[in-house]
Amino acid sequence: MEKNKSILVTGGCGFIGANFVRLLLKTRPQYRIINLDLLTYAGNLHNLEGISESTQYRFAKGDICDRQLLDTLFKNEQIDTVVHFAAESHVDRSITGPAAFINTNIIGTFSLLETARECWLSEQATSGEYCFLHVSTDEVYGSLGETGYFSEETPFDPRSPYSASKASSDHLVSAYFHTYGLPAIITNCSNNYGPYQFPEKLIPLIFHNSLGGKELPVYGDGKNVRDWLYVEDHCEAILEVIEKGTTGRSYNIGGNNEKQNIEVVHTICDLLDSKVGQLPNQQPRRSLVRYVTDRLGHDRRYAIDASRIKNELGWQPRMSFEKGIEQTIDWYLENSQWVETVIDGTYQDYYRQMYENR
Ligand code: NAD
Ligand code: TYD
Repeated sequence: MEKNKSILVTGGCGFIGANFVRLLLKTRPQYRIINLDLLTYAGNLHNLEGISESTQYRFAKGDICDRQLLDTLFKNEQIDTVVHFAAESHVDRSITGPAAFINTNIIGTFSLLETARECWLSEQATSGEYCFLHVSTDEVYGSLGETGYFSEETPFDPRSPYSASKASSDHLVSAYFHTYGLPAIITNCSNNYGPYQFPEKLIPLIFHNSLGGKELPVYGDGKNVRDWLYVEDHCEAILEVIEKGTTGRSYNIGGNNEKQNIEVVHTICDLLDSKVGQLPNQQPRRSLVRYVTDRLGHDRRYAIDASRIKNELGWQPRMSFEKGIEQTIDWYLENSQWVETVIDGTYQDYYRQMYENR
């Protein structure tokens, strides 16, 4: 049985954060969870539907840049572990509006680090085990050619405002470990997919458009490669890292599932054709593919060497892409109302009603 922890999860209403909160509630009844989320466009309380506040779980709406709020939460809740997901996470948005990425991803991470430093490393701090886990991305390493893998030793070479902001925050976390001895760990993960992903990202976007018979925008030649990881595998890896990882270390997390974008799009089209039937004009959904202007600075290939986390912590992904994508499509089909409220924006009415009149 693991020891008790009081965990601050930032961004717990987003895609990966919500899956992580669900995993904790299912498997770690002895942990206390405080979910701090600003509920930006990407934060959705429906992602945690069915979970109510209890002695084990509490939701706090707020900004990771708000030092006063962070101080209060750390002190009142006696936070000993931070799992930091909160971020602006979409590359296309970072190209059209980078400012929010600098603010949340860099300044927000800095605010959390400062609070942890003050609360955990002050003379008054009681003894205890602390861990600051910063959840980052493989995009900090840049772009691969046809061969090779990103290891933890690969030099950073970020190419988009998103990846540059994440690389900056990774450097800050690392600096707090080396300079102040803050017990910090970084994970750099490949592309996630699974339930509750906001439909601006490739897989849920293609699902939604394909189901509705809309065009499927494929950037460039469609041959860019991503290493797809099922979100529950990622969440299990994070749990291993906070329970068994070595502070000052970084761990790459990957799915061992390299796919070209066009292969992913075709797989979703074919699954939908077989599950709900072809389009009304009897055309297969693949006919909806449209090659569109490439993303600026589009990284060609990402692929992870995850041997460190496998050898040191015994973690490896369990889900194959074939099974994971089918399960994901089934989840989106069974939760069409979730998709609709996200697409039409009414999910935000829900939290306005719940929180803004308090
Ligand atoms: P997401 O966009 O789905 O969710 C982000 C969450 O953070 C939302 O709930 C949002 O409301 C919250 N948030 C944003 N700004 C905030 C602020 N200033 N204060 C408090 N909360 C704020 O993101 P995701 O896909 O779940 O990614 C989570 C983390 O994992 C991010 O740090 C991302 O960089 C990293 N990551 C994601 C992937 C992926 O494939 N999605 C891969 C590797 C790493
Ligand atoms: P995305 O889900 O945005 O993740 P990331 O940019 O962090 O890897 O995109 C995954 C891949 O799919 C990426 O190569 C860009 C491509 N893509 C499209 O071809 N069309 C789209 O509409 C989107 C959103 C992405």
